[in-house]
Amino acid sequence: MKENLEGRVALITGASRGIGRHIALRLASCGATVVLAARNEASLNATAEQITAQNGAAIVATVELTDEVSIKNLVKTVGNKTGRLDILVNNAGITHSALLDETASADWDRVMQINARAPFILCREALPLLRQSPRACIINISSVVGVKGYAKQSAYTASKHALRGMSIALAEELRDTNIRVHVLCPGAVDTDMAGGVRPDIKKEDLIDPEEIAELVEYLVTHKGNAVMDELRIRRAASGPWF
Ligand SMILES: NC(=O)c1ccc[n+]([C@@H]2O[C@H](COP(=O)([O-])OP(=O)(O)OC[C@H]3O[C@@H](n4cnc5c(N)ncnc54)[C@H](OP(=O)(O)O)[C@@H]3O)[C@@H](O)[C@H]2O)c1
Repeated sequence: MKENLEGRVALITGASRGIGRHIALRLASCGATVVLAARNEASLNATAEQITAQNGAAIVATVELTDEVSIKNLVKTVGNKTGRLDILVNNAGITHSALLDETASADWDRVMQINARAPFILCREALPLLRQSPRACIINISSVVGVKGYAKQSAYTASKHALRGMSIALAEELRDTNIRVHVLCPGAVDTDMAGGVRPDIKKEDLIDPEEIAELVEYLVTHKGNAVMDELRIRRAASGPWF
């Protein structure tokens, strides 16, 4: 019960590195045309070159996710270049590590802008294209801290709760449509971000970003009546049931 993504278009934010890059490579390998979005054009081009070298199709589209106009232009670019959108992966995100009473309002705002406001704007702007797809998916990458809270991560935790909450409401709004909304809540994944926030965790105990890409592939290709709205993905070395 697996669908080939041939002819489908997927937009992935944060595709210049880390989890987003792995998701882009994986969806391209399943046949989707992937639109790679982030700020660093050179890194996006490197990902695109890797995809085309493997006979995949990729389009590079730079975006600044703190800027609403830039986000709207990204969706316009997708429409103009491909005429469709089937999969939206809101993956880009940033952290801010500080005690709440040492968190500047500007840092709070930036985390909320990139992690919660940008996915909201992207969902809203992409809906007209997604509604035209025979089977569309929105995948929002929250976090373990979208479910629980960690010290020194109040802004990040709030932003991931916000993204998860928005996703649940949107899924209700779209329940009788062709569009499904999924949330992924991973624990620490082996990327630049985890290296900065959780240097205490040994590299071999981190989740491989390829494992996250594999789960995204499952969600977007699985056909049938079984639906997983949310996946909570913990490190094997951490305690069960967060
Ligand atoms: N790594 C973990 O342990 C972990 C665990 C749970 C959830 N997550 C979530 O998974 C997602 C990906 O994390 P990651 O670990 O892969 O992070 P990462 O390696 O730091 O990559 C972050 C991505 O977001 C993009 N980005 C950041 N700010 C942006 C902006 N203002 N405009 C456009 N793009 C921007 C970056 O691209 P540019 O710099 O090129 O713009 C980059 O591609 C995030 O939402 C994160 O919160 C990560």
